[in-house]
Amino acid sequence: MATINDVKIIELPKFLDARGNLSFAEQNNHIPFEIKRTYWIYDVPGGESRGGHAFFKNHEFIVALSGAFDVVVDDGEQKKTFRLNRSYYGLFVPAGLWREMNNFSTNSLALEFGSEHYYKGDYVRNYDDFIKLKKDGKI
Ligand code: TYD
Repeated sequence: MATINDVKIIELPKFLDARGNLSFAEQNNHIPFEIKRTYWIYDVPGGESRGGHAFFKNHEFIVALSGAFDVVVDDGEQKKTFRLNRSYYGLFVPAGLWREMNNFSTNSLALEFGSEHYYKGDYVRNYDDFIKLKKDGKI
């Protein structure tokens, strides 16, 4: 069962250049799983919060491609906030943790890689349900 200690900031390669910088991420390397899905969150109005949910199976890797935001991770016992504000850092969030994203800066762009295709049944969207599943060792 995952805990917040399994959440990791991963520094990605970066090539700094007068022409502009370049970073990259490879599956099963910097991103510690096979990527089946990618999606991005943009045009988030000030004060909005996104992604209040947990996954049964989906591991995630989150990058602030532009701007900054917080990812709050919660394993039912402890919470930790990671501020992502550089495009060469990724946050690995394994399945089985509650996570929320907030404090988006203007024009921020969150890129997320997932280990699973989109499947509604993989989401736990109610926090009390998550706590119960966690206590019962079901997530
Ligand atoms: P939602 O899961 O509510 O976003 P958040 O991560 O902030 O909780 O996703 C919004 C809508 O987008 C929802 O109707 C489901 C849909 N969606 C897909 O169809 N495929 C995807 O890969 C994702 C991430 C979302």
